[in-house]
Amino acid sequence: MNYSIFISIFLISSLPIILSQQPYIRQATTQCESRDNSTSVLGYTCNGASRSCQAYLTFRSQPPFTSVSTISTLFSANSSQISQLNSVPENAVFETNRMVLVPITCSCSGPYYQANTSYVVQQNDTYLSIANATLQGLSTCQALIVQNPDDLATGLFPGEIIRVPLRCACPTRTQIDDGVNYLLSYLVTWNQFVSTISELFRVDTGRTLAANGLSEQDFNIYPFTTLLVPLQDPPSSTQVTAPQPPPPPSSATPLPSAPPPSGGSRRTWIYVLVGVLGGIVLLSTVGVIIFCLFFRKTKQKSKPVPSLESFESIEKPLEKEVDEESQDFLESISSLALSLKVYTFEELKSATQDFSPSCLIKGSVYCGTINGDLAAIKKINGDVSKEINLLNKINHFNLIRLSGVGFNQGNWYLVYEYAPNGALSDWIHDKSEQKMMDWNKRLQIVLDVASGLNYLHRYTSPPHVHKDLNSSNVLLDRDFRAKIANFGLARSAEGQEGQFALTRHIVGTKGYMAPEYLENGLISPKLDVYAFGVLMLEIFTGKEVSLLYEEVNMQLSEVLTPLLNENGQENVRKIMDPLLQGNYPSELALVVFRLIDNCLKKDLSDRPNMDDVFQSLSRISTSSLSGGWAISISEHRTAPR
Ligand SMILES: *[C@@H]1O[C@H](CO)[C@@H](O)[C@H](O)[C@H]1NC(C)=O
Ligand SMILES: *[C@@H]1O[C@H](CO)[C@@H](O)[C@H](O)[C@H]1NC(C)=O
Ligand SMILES: *[C@@H]1O[C@H](CO)[C@@H](O)[C@H](O)[C@H]1NC(C)=O
Ligand SMILES: *[C@@H]1O[C@H](CO)[C@@H](O)[C@H](O)[C@H]1NC(C)=O
Ligand SMILES: *[C@@H]1O[C@H](CO)[C@@H](O)[C@H](O)[C@H]1NC(C)=O
Repeated sequence: MNYSIFISIFLISSLPIILSQQPYIRQATTQCESRDNSTSVLGYTCNGASRSCQAYLTFRSQPPFTSVSTISTLFSANSSQISQLNSVPENAVFETNRMVLVPITCSCSGPYYQANTSYVVQQNDTYLSIANATLQGLSTCQALIVQNPDDLATGLFPGEIIRVPLRCACPTRTQIDDGVNYLLSYLVTWNQFVSTISELFRVDTGRTLAANGLSEQDFNIYPFTTLLVPLQDPPSSTQVTAPQPPPPPSSATPLPSAPPPSGGSRRTWIYVLVGVLGGIVLLSTVGVIIFCLFFRKTKQKSKPVPSLESFESIEKPLEKEVDEESQDFLESISSLALSLKVYTFEELKSATQDFSPSCLIKGSVYCGTINGDLAAIKKINGDVSKEINLLNKINHFNLIRLSGVGFNQGNWYLVYEYAPNGALSDWIHDKSEQKMMDWNKRLQIVLDVASGLNYLHRYTSPPHVHKDLNSSNVLLDRDFRAKIANFGLARSAEGQEGQFALTRHIVGTKGYMAPEYLENGLISPKLDVYAFGVLMLEIFTGKEVSLLYEEVNMQLSEVLTPLLNENGQENVRKIMDPLLQGNYPSELALVVFRLIDNCLKKDLSDRPNMDDVFQSLSRISTSSLSGGWAISISEHRTAPR
């Protein structure tokens, strides 16, 4: 029985996806000028069964909003209800960063659901700082701007009172039929996944995904956005004050959840303390029991389980110890990373027909079938803890997903999601395949890679650099969407703002390495920006990197810059992949090549960061799919050859 509990914690439940209810806001929160209302930036659509309902928010206490009374003022919420919901007295002060539950009444206002509150503008406040910093994402700058039309002319001034719509929603008919009575607007922070948030409130991950218009293929969430959690019962303080994995998640063990300790409202701090401590003890006991029962099945001797960090710091253990350490490491993975499955060698062997050559993809990567799903299985002899640690924190559509791991006789086996269309390099360099790669497909691929790198640079904690981006490390799925793979060289870019890490150990792929790295061993996210520039050049010219360098024999951008200044469109036509000739929008192509040129700047401070690159490519992609495209084709037809 305990075994099955454990398994159910391992597996993200895969209930059929119910009708999507509200679109997730994604990264639209920072583009205050954008009037695009296709995401939920202006608020969640008023599509529920009722026009008004009880709803909940989560907020992390931050000075000056650390007490029941200041938080109730900020959200215009009832303070006695806040104190009850969080099991604290009305005069309580929370420690910083504690998650506080706030009950609100959510109502339709025009086309959107919202809860109204007001806010007194402070010195130096902007709509973005109010939405993102003060309210942590519970409102958006776009909604604030739209609902305070009088301020457009005057701008914000200190002391002014503005209307603030808070993001909330009421359950739809479908959700109510499904047993959902409340929606909680959960504030996402760093390194969080839909599955971990769902576990916190003990709701099904599939339902949370559906409630936000997300799916198992499209599950990326970003810090400082709201995620709707569908609840049957009102949330309780035990759910949000349970020990949570602090970032990075590898340093604490999220315990399997147990039923909350029962009990009515607590009036004094003593009761609260006793309750919370009791809860923790109960949770840990249940966790330890399950843990022991599970591991008795696989291992007789019990040794303290090292953390992932401690494994990393082991320099070169003796041969004999390697296996033991690896065994411990495997176990620590199974206890720490709930999303990672540990496979036995037998399972891997049967998945790959005993690692038969017919299953070999390339090098030491095999294709296998596990539980009916295709997977790529890579055999590695060496330290994989860094890659596992990183991939375990990552959750992005454009970064290859690690789903499991195995170990046998000194070799690691990493099990990844399978990308049926293989490496990008095969598609751009094989002339017979290349026909498939039209302009828009290539644009989608570069946009995908930019999105993945941007996530790696900005939304992993600490930020990471891939360090080995090239066209064989970009894989294509069934729909030719790109996924960045091979994180073996990736490393943290921590503490490198203004001051960069240096290394004497230069590794990477020839042709893609930035000048400052080759010459001085300087490591920063701009390294990936340079490699991305080379990759884009490869994609749009259809030429292999070695060929590109042979032709120019110097800094790529030294050649590119002058070409783009005068007769830019004509020159781009000369270097564009011959297979695309006549079938691409020439103005946009010039914009793309200017972007490539910027990414390839010799001086890293002249290069844009990945966020800028991603934003530019999104705009290019939007115009390519709409008007710009038709205009330039017709223009091209009449242009002299
Ligand atoms: C979104 O904007 C368009 C045009 O700006 C408008 O017609 C439409 O009603 C808006 N949709 C919502 C839900 O506000
Ligand atoms: C706050 O909630 C309590 C209990 O739910 C209720 O008795 C009280 O009247 C409410 N106060 C206000 C100002 O609405
Ligand atoms: C919230 O404020 C809007 C105006 O910003 C107003 O139209 C709406 O009626 C208010 N809702 C409630 C419940 O007071
Ligand atoms: C507002 O900004 C100015 C200049 O940027 C700074 O000197 C001042 O301390 C800021 N005030 C507050 C309250 O942050
Ligand atoms: C939003 O706030 C967080 C934390 O306060 C900060 O790290 C992030 O950069 C902010 N985003 C923007 C676009 O200002």
